[in-house]
Amino acid sequence: LGKSINLSFMIRSYVKRLGRISPRQRSGLDLRLASYQLPVPQSDNPWNFLSLFGTNAKIVLEIGFGMGASMVTMAEANPEILFIGIEVHDAGVGSLAADLHDNNIGNVFIAPYDAMEVFHHALPDNSLDGIQIFFPDPWPKTRHHKRRLIQPDFVKLLSAKLVPHGFLHCATDWQHYAEQMLRVLSQEIALSNTYKHGGFADMRHSRPLTKFEKRGEKLGHGIWDLYFLKN
Ligand SMILES: C[S@@+](CC[C@H](N)C(=O)[O-])C[C@H]1O[C@@H](n2cnc3c(N)ncnc32)[C@H](O)[C@@H]1O
Repeated sequence: LGKSINLSFMIRSYVKRLGRISPRQRSGLDLRLASYQLPVPQSDNPWNFLSLFGTNAKIVLEIGFGMGASMVTMAEANPEILFIGIEVHDAGVGSLAADLHDNNIGNVFIAPYDAMEVFHHALPDNSLDGIQIFFPDPWPKTRHHKRRLIQPDFVKLLSAKLVPHGFLHCATDWQHYAEQMLRVLSQEIALSNTYKHGGFADMRHSRPLTKFEKRGEKLGHGIWDLYFLKN
């Protein structure tokens, strides 16, 4: 009694993998990340993109970029767009930072934080032209479904951060999650499905092939894309 209650417990959409970090990833983290890293999210102090980037360029954000290959490919193909990548996996963050440096890519910024914190505290409303979530952890067991990123409250928050007509592009190789994504996104009144008959999108070839997509294909899984626009 009299003590404040610790409410820091929350359901996380990831488990930090402790696997090996290669020397290149280590030097990406230690030597390169600082040049690309966005500030730590703080409540009541959202990022100001104009002062951070010095431009009003379009911003596309990816949640869970894994090893970062999709970020590199898209940034090189779209030099006029700024990309923000969110990832908590150290090996992936180090790998992307090293790739950005080695390929002299200047239009990617890294947020090595929990996407929940970034969306709750750091991002201004109506600030993103697009959000991509490619192959998020599927959490196949029923008792883990609550850990899935795509849930009604989070999708409402994602929508609030998009500019009008901004896009939300999700992809998964897990059918049960694909159906949940379609249900949750279709029920969000701020979003509209761009695809005929309200179904899945034919977008497979318009995004880079990712590590987890290749893995899903090897396992014989289907691939489902969803492409919604903010009204
Ligand atoms: C299954 S992997 C897919 C990686 C990549 N998009 C691909 O297709 O290869 C999902 C990634 O999302 C990251 N992730 C999950 N929840 C996250 C969160 N709340 N914030 C940041 N990253 C998260 C995990 O660390 C993991 O690297």
